[in-house]
Amino acid sequence: MSTPVVHAALNFTLTGRTALVTGAARGIGHAIATALGQAGARVGVCDLDAEAAEAAAARLREAGIEAVGVGADVADEVQVQAMVNQVEALLGGVDILVNNAGIVSTGPLLEVTTAEWNRVMAIDLNSVFFCAKAVLPGMIARQSGRIINIASVAGKRGGGLLGNSCYAAAKGAVIALTKGLAREAGPYAITVNAVSPALTDTEMTSALAPQARAEVLAQMPLGRAGTPRDIAAAVCFLASREAGFVTGEIMDVDGGFMRD
Ligand SMILES: NC(=O)c1ccc[n+]([C@@H]2O[C@H](COP(=O)([O-])OP(=O)(O)OC[C@H]3O[C@@H](n4cnc5c(N)ncnc54)[C@H](O)[C@@H]3O)[C@@H](O)[C@H]2O)c1
Repeated sequence: MSTPVVHAALNFTLTGRTALVTGAARGIGHAIATALGQAGARVGVCDLDAEAAEAAAARLREAGIEAVGVGADVADEVQVQAMVNQVEALLGGVDILVNNAGIVSTGPLLEVTTAEWNRVMAIDLNSVFFCAKAVLPGMIARQSGRIINIASVAGKRGGGLLGNSCYAAAKGAVIALTKGLAREAGPYAITVNAVSPALTDTEMTSALAPQARAEVLAQMPLGRAGTPRDIAAAVCFLASREAGFVTGEIMDVDGGFMRD
């Protein structure tokens, strides 16, 4: 095959695509929803609190993005299916699913109650299963799709200052689910990847004690915490048509944290 003189320009626009982002009322999810919308996608903004989801969607619309806000507890399969149905009725079939909603758990495992364990698993792990199951039939029918899960370095390292073993177990399972689903969905030209952040400045991490924060930053070659924008940039790449040969990848966006 001869090399063309000039290669066709890469195309990172998402015009005509429908994206659904969970936990998108604030933090990393809101940055992802904004970035996908700015790249041209219609955006379904899902969050636990319907009013917060709608307020976030209204902010996107003010910025010229076609967006709808939908309330749903992603830990509840029935609510997830209803939320996906609503988004698909208003914006069309979901082409890009970003499983971002999550909660953190901290402290020694011996102090984690069974109720807390189940809550973390339900929100951080079961939600990925429920949301993927709800969008996959449409993606399979269209023979295209992108699923991007927000994992965590805790899922690779077994927790630590950024979440305990319970949180790590949930995020570790999200990583395994990402790889497994990538195998299953590949034949339909659907890619499934994860982005794995380290310390990122959001409400979730605002309670981190200054000393713990300094300890984490000392392990990051880039010496700073991530921003929601840093995570959104990686998601936008994985959501793009140019990432069509990337699947089952767990992309660290962590200032080099995992490189020590
Ligand atoms: N901030 C970090 O340092 C960091 C690091 C690694 C991974 N993460 C992951 O990134 C994702 C986003 O985290 P963040 O820092 O933006 O957190 P955040 O707490 O600021 O935002 C999380 C959002 O998810 C929503 N949410 C929580 N439970 C929900 C439920 N049951 N149903 C629907 N929505 C729900 C919340 O209402 C909130 O809007 C999470 O999965 C988190 O585990 C964050």
